[in-house]
Amino acid sequence: MNPKNFLIVAIDGGAASGKSSTSRALSARFNLLHVDTGSFYRALTAELLRAGVSPADQVAVEAALGRITLGTRLEGRSALMEVGGRVVPEAEIRGREVNAHVSHFAAVPAVRAFLLAYQRGQAGFARDRGFRGLVMEGRDIGSVIFPQADHRFFLHADPEERARRRAREGGQDSIAERDRLDSSRQAAPLACPPGAVAVDTTFNTLDEVVETIARPITAALSA
Ligand code: DC
Repeated sequence: MNPKNFLIVAIDGGAASGKSSTSRALSARFNLLHVDTGSFYRALTAELLRAGVSPADQVAVEAALGRITLGTRLEGRSALMEVGGRVVPEAEIRGREVNAHVSHFAAVPAVRAFLLAYQRGQAGFARDRGFRGLVMEGRDIGSVIFPQADHRFFLHADPEERARRRAREGGQDSIAERDRLDSSRQAAPLACPPGAVAVDTTFNTLDEVVETIARPITAALSA
């Protein structure tokens, strides 16, 4: 599944824990495809909302998923998900409606099952485009999507610091509520998986966090 010459780095953590900035930096440093699975759940949420589906109605969710086709577009070093041939605009996937609903849809087992093979398929997408591997960020990457990843990290930070970060980005996002929902759901709850390296980003700069994570990767590559 994971040949030696293809590197898989899993970065899990709660909302605004520093996953995206860290993953982008690792992508550039090691020539890895950057895959933000939160954006996948967000784009799918936008599409399901557009279809008028409620996360409480699992039958309707499954019926709507059956009509959705997914693709992938490369932008820079990042994989963007295409839903029905179109990339859902950033403003929409980071907007208030999606923020309010994404954790509810992400707790529906059919939604997680729908995205599972698509997420694993990003490894083939990365190989085909000449990347050395991929860095995938989310909530269940090191536990469910790629439990055999070469490196698995779990980022966390104090809630106040995470709220400050999200406010600085100009986002309106109830991160504490999303974390509560993401941690308490039955299907693939947010948690540091056994064997993953936990990294507290509260008092560290982005550069420091990237160095902490890059060090073991560099060491393993030169071993
Ligand atoms: O990383 P993010 O905050 O953009 O993620 C949005 C939501 O998607 C998050 O509240 C939970 C869900 N998610 C998930 O359940 N599993 C993932 N691998 C990634 C995101």
